[in-house]
Amino acid sequence: MDFLVAKDDLHRCRFVDSEPPELEPGQALLQVASFGLTSNNITYAMFGEAMSYWSFFPAEDGWGRVPVWGFAEVAASRQDGLQAGTRVYGYLPPSSEFVVNAARVDGRGFVDASPHRAKLPPAYNSYARTDADPIYDDAHEDEQMLLRPLFFTSYLIDDFLDESELFGAGTVVLSSASSKTASALAFLLSRREGVEVVGLTSARSRDFAGRLGVYDHVVAYEDISELPLERAVYVDMAGDAAVRDAVHGHYRRELAHSAVVGATHHDQMGELPAALPGPRPMFFFAPDRVTKRSEDWGREGLEQRLTDAWRPYLEWTGTWLEVLHGQGPEALEGAYLDLLDGRIDPARAHVLSLPR
Ligand SMILES: NC(=O)c1ccc[n+]([C@@H]2O[C@H](COP(=O)([O-])OP(=O)(O)OC[C@H]3O[C@@H](n4cnc5c(N)ncnc54)[C@H](OP(=O)(O)O)[C@@H]3O)[C@@H](O)[C@H]2O)c1
Repeated sequence: MDFLVAKDDLHRCRFVDSEPPELEPGQALLQVASFGLTSNNITYAMFGEAMSYWSFFPAEDGWGRVPVWGFAEVAASRQDGLQAGTRVYGYLPPSSEFVVNAARVDGRGFVDASPHRAKLPPAYNSYARTDADPIYDDAHEDEQMLLRPLFFTSYLIDDFLDESELFGAGTVVLSSASSKTASALAFLLSRREGVEVVGLTSARSRDFAGRLGVYDHVVAYEDISELPLERAVYVDMAGDAAVRDAVHGHYRRELAHSAVVGATHHDQMGELPAALPGPRPMFFFAPDRVTKRSEDWGREGLEQRLTDAWRPYLEWTGTWLEVLHGQGPEALEGAYLDLLDGRIDPARAHVLSLPR
């Protein structure tokens, strides 16, 4: 069973059943066990065409499968070294099962070398065996599905800002402060000396963002003009043109860097105006930093640093995150449409599965 979304109207979705294909030599059939769903997956759909997210898991003409992160099990394999029953973590389609061309198989996992994925960022094409993954902990599978990709991004932004010496600023301003990606970044920044972290959020999420305890100040989008004028870096998760304009218009020359990370407020996304005050916003593309840090530190060096940073973060999320488990097509469609329309309680997150 596949969950399909119309590429030209993300509110139109449906489920289709198909027969599992015959495996060719080198292929394996992966059964999707469960996966997380947050606003980040909505961004994959929003940028499906522009950033090739639709290309990972092709569907029939005009329809796309929104990528998700989760666990899968090898149900059948025609690749030596990859046994049926192997459990992996990675980038999955919202489907019951899918076929990979398993390459570079070793004790840590494998890479899907399917031709349609060849030009896509390698960070999304590898599958980690749970029995060899330093981050894996069977007591925290839900958190891994939901938070690992978001935390990974936040870790890379925190590292990028640190390497850039905060572009000479002392304050970091984050939008969508209640989102899991923003709060993970705030958590990491709050552990650094001398960094002031400001969270911008909607009126409805303000109390929640404040209770997280990782922001020095939580400010409603309407009150941006009241922020103290000091040298600052902006990290934009919201992609809301009005919020971005307000931040740039307020800090102007004091804005040391402006990074675009996501687009939670996709209904309000706009073109960049030619005369935006301050620096031109730069898209932060996590896979590029993975490539850079893998070269600098080696793959294992990066993994070790991530694992060390993940443990205290995981402990902290245990104080506020509530996981909602849903099974079957209705639960998936409902969770997807709620996220698409911004009907979100930021303290909660969905873990879903389809019938196998
Ligand atoms: N570039 C990358 O590599 C990368 C990687 C990971 C995540 N991201 C981005 O980070 C952002 C956060 O993702 P997440 O999964 O952490 O989010 P999440 O926890 O599901 O976010 C919940 C919050 O996002 C805001 N929001 C979500 N949908 C909205 C809508 N339709 N209208 C208005 N506000 C909405 C609200 O925040 P407020 O009320 O606080 O505004 C809401 O409380 C996404 O844009 C995602 O794409 C980017």
